[in-house]
Amino acid sequence: MDPAPNLESIPHPPGHMLVGNLFDLDAAHPMEGLAALARKYGPIYKLEVPGRGSRIIASSFEFVDPLCDESGFDKKVGAGLTQLAAGPAGRGLFTSETQDPNWREAHNVLLPAFQHGRYAYSGLDPQPCPGGCSGRVRFAAHLRGRASVESFTDRRSTAGDGSMRFLALIGALAIIAAIGAAIYFFGGFYNVGETADNPAIVDWALASVRGASVVAHGTETPPANLDDTETVKAGARIYATIGCVNCHGGPPDANWAKWSEGLKPVPADLKVMAKERTASQLFWAIKNGIKFTGMPSFGLAGAPDQDIWSVVAFVKKSPSVSDDEYKAWTTPP
Ligand code: HEC
Repeated sequence: MDPAPNLESIPHPPGHMLVGNLFDLDAAHPMEGLAALARKYGPIYKLEVPGRGSRIIASSFEFVDPLCDESGFDKKVGAGLTQLAAGPAGRGLFTSETQDPNWREAHNVLLPAFQHGRYAYSGLDPQPCPGGCSGRVRFAAHLRGRASVESFTDRRSTAGDGSMRFLALIGALAIIAAIGAAIYFFGGFYNVGETADNPAIVDWALASVRGASVVAHGTETPPANLDDTETVKAGARIYATIGCVNCHGGPPDANWAKWSEGLKPVPADLKVMAKERTASQLFWAIKNGIKFTGMPSFGLAGAPDQDIWSVVAFVKKSPSVSDDEYKAWTTPP
């Protein structure tokens, strides 16, 4: 159908060769930019966007209202979509003609999500106009052969659009980061050697996580005899024989086993820990061990709770235990 000869042409900003009206678009504030052009060129104007053809921008009730009445338009199902419909995809929103009940159903499901938003219809074609061309159909005739029509009746839609794009960007970055991390770790690039230092922030984070976890988990009530000298002495003996001294040393400082100097993080100074942690927290750490460090779980290793509490009694006392006392308590009779 040819446009009727008495139709006015749609106003448009002059534009430039190749880039069309690209410089008339405001990338930072797209809707405000379009509204500013509407103030200049009127409630309906045209923009040429390179690679995307012509855009007709309608902004008054007079133009937007008929555009929102989709009964005035027919869908264009191109060759590719026609083929898709013949295959397993079947007929649906994109692949069926306007008259197809499947299309109507799919369209009605989607409509509520779009009716307050930006409304974009691709491939608009005017319907044949049975009773002469007027109103909506006249307008539709203007649009023949255009790529799409957009209206900006509702500002909420811009915000929605922007945040969707932002979310999509975050999603894409997350996928790229995950792929990068997988290549780095599974490709053997990460150095698991103790000799390779962690970035300081990783060491700091691991130590903070350890501290927070021990404090949160160490809640068991200690037995009443924790301060008894006999319990402390028994604890010293267990401490010296079960393995602690190899890593943490004993009251004669630096009597740890040489190999424990190869551990990272270095085994904690228990005289400091005795003051920093409660008996319950020490008990929990000794019983459960500490992940990502050389600290073993003595619970898993079979030590009874009672022995562990005795060790805790000794550790708590250790800042005031002399070398001689330790030697006397730990030398077998
Ligand atoms: C194989 C070496 C090794 C042995 C054996 C070992 N530890 Fe540890 N221990 C460590 C390392 C490594 C850490 C982690 C250092 C840190 O927390 O900064 C640690 C941490 C600790 C902590 C501090 C937990 C906290 O609150 O952060 C305590 C308490 C402790 N060990 C007590 C003991 C006692 C008691 C024994 C013996 C029953 C023992 N350890 C045996 C290596 C060892």
